Amino acid sequence: MQKFENFLLDNLPTSKSIHPTYEKALQQMLVAGGKRFRPALLLGVVNACNTLLEESAMHAALAIELLHTYSLIHDDLPAMDNSPLRRGNPTLHVAFDEVTAILVGDALNTYAFEVLSNAPFSDYTRVELIRELASNGGLGGMVLGQAIDCYFENRPLGIEDIKFLHTNKTAKLIAASLKMGAIIVGQEKLGEKLYDFGIKLGLLFQIQDDILDVTQSSEEAGKLTNNDEAKNSFVTILGLGEAMREANSLADALISELNSFDENLKNELSELLIKYINRHK
Ligand code: IPE
Ligand code: IPE
Ligand code: MG
Ligand code: MG
Ligand code: MG
Repeated sequence: MQKFENFLLDNLPTSKSIHPTYEKALQQMLVAGGKRFRPALLLGVVNACNTLLEESAMHAALAIELLHTYSLIHDDLPAMDNSPLRRGNPTLHVAFDEVTAILVGDALNTYAFEVLSNAPFSDYTRVELIRELASNGGLGGMVLGQAIDCYFENRPLGIEDIKFLHTNKTAKLIAASLKMGAIIVGQEKLGEKLYDFGIKLGLLFQIQDDILDVTQSSEEAGKLTNNDEAKNSFVTILGLGEAMREANSLADALISELNSFDENLKNELSELLIKYINRHK
C-alpha cells in the first residue's frame, strides 16, 4: 500500500487562505494513518483483474478513504460518540475546535466526489463510481446507519435491526469498495458478487470493531475504547462470547466463499483478508 500512501500525500486537500489552521486540519486525520482497508479492497480487485488500471484506480481508492475519514471525524464529535482520540491522535474537535471538525468533515466528503469527477476514466465509469460511493456512503447507507446508531443509544434493538444498522453504517461502504474495483475493470457482474461478499465482510469488520472496543486499550486501538456501552453494538447486545462466535462463523463463511473466486482474485484478496479476518481473536 506504499503506492497508495504516496498518492494520498500527493493529492491531499489544500486550501491557502487567511484561515490560520484550516489547511492543517483538512490534512491532519488523513496523514495520521489508519488501516486503509477500503482502498486496499478496491485496489486488490483492480490488481487481480487488470494491473494496468492500478494508477487510475488510485483516484477512486483515495475518494473512498476521504469519505471514510470524514465519517470518522463526524463520528467522534461530541454530539455523536464524543471521542478525544482517533488514529492515535487527538480528534479534530479537540486539536482545533468543533466548528473546524464539522467543516473539515464536510470538505472531505465533497472533495471525495471532486476527486472522482476528475479521475481518468470514461464518463460512464466516472458516473457509476460516483453513484456507488454516494448511494453507499450517503443518505441510504453510512449516514442512515449513523442516524440509527445514535438515535437508538440506550434503546436496545433486536438482532435483525442491529444487522440493518451495521449493514448501513459500515458494511455498505466496504461492499462498495470491492464493487468500485469491479466497475473500474468493467466487470459489473463480478461487482454484484463482490458487493454481496463485501456486505458480509463489512458486518464481520463491525463485529470485530465492537469486540475490540471491549478487549483493547485506547492506546492499542489508537481510539477511545470501552465507549460502546450505550450503543447497539454486537457485544452490548449479544455479549462477548456470542459476538465472538458470530464473528468466527462469518469469518469461516467468508473464507470458503473466497475459494469460489477465480485464482487471481482469490490470491489478491486472501493476502489482504488473512490480515483482518481473525483480528478479533
Ligand atoms: C473504523 O473504521 C470505523 C468502522 C467502520 C468500524 P476503521 O477501523 O477502518 O478505521 P481506520 O481507517 O483504520 O482508522
Ligand atoms: C462508526 O462506528 C462507523 C462509521 C460510520 C464512522 P464506530 O463508532 O463503532 O467506529 P469507531 O469505533 O468510533 O471507530
Ligand atoms: Mg459511532
Ligand atoms: Mg465511534
Ligand atoms: Mg467502534
